[in-house]
Amino acid sequence: KNIVILLSGRGSNFEAILRTARAENWEAEGLRIAAVFSNRPDAKGLATARAEGLDAFAVDHKAFATREAFDEELARRIEPYEPAVIVLAGFMRILTPGFVSRWEGKILNIHPALLPLFPGLDTHRRCIEAGCRVHGSTVHFVSAVLDGGAIIGQSVVPVMTTDTPDTLAARLLPYEHKVYPKCVKAVAEGRVKLVDGRAVMDDATA
Ligand code: GRF
Repeated sequence: KNIVILLSGRGSNFEAILRTARAENWEAEGLRIAAVFSNRPDAKGLATARAEGLDAFAVDHKAFATREAFDEELARRIEPYEPAVIVLAGFMRILTPGFVSRWEGKILNIHPALLPLFPGLDTHRRCIEAGCRVHGSTVHFVSAVLDGGAIIGQSVVPVMTTDTPDTLAARLLPYEHKVYPKCVKAVAEGRVKLVDGRAVMDDATA
């Protein structure tokens, strides 16, 4: 079963998934990270993927006149991998409904907030400004609504009164790196499925 990663930048979540896949020997269960795509040719995550010997490609969104044309090309390049899961790992492009419906129930995203709170950008600052005592990250199925798909897993951290958006983000990141690989594996293995707009788990440990 193939996992395809889409990213735009640093790629620390991708690295965490790769590290976990190797440490837990996902290949023995037939799961492999088959390819990494970036809409930004200069993304650090893309360089990491190449250095790790993975299939890694840039599909530069700036080369396309419309969002639809970009997504069409991205889909054409992803299709040969027949992905069981498409993992958005810091992928900073909104996908068109056409792309999303093509792989419904197979596209995952991690969002750095406790959804349904704070969809969109600048989540750490907004969380602090709202006076929340906890913050977190959410792994969810991607739907046509931005950051609005069914929730698969979440991780939670405290907010300190001294926090800045940067310190809060730094506290959260290691937890993102734990929850995301777990959710990716569960979906890739079919232990978590999208049913009627909800994530359904086949056992309590999923
Ligand atoms: C993470 O905070 C993730 O939650 C958000 O974008 C950031 C990506 O970081 N979607 P990285 O590229 O995985 O290091």
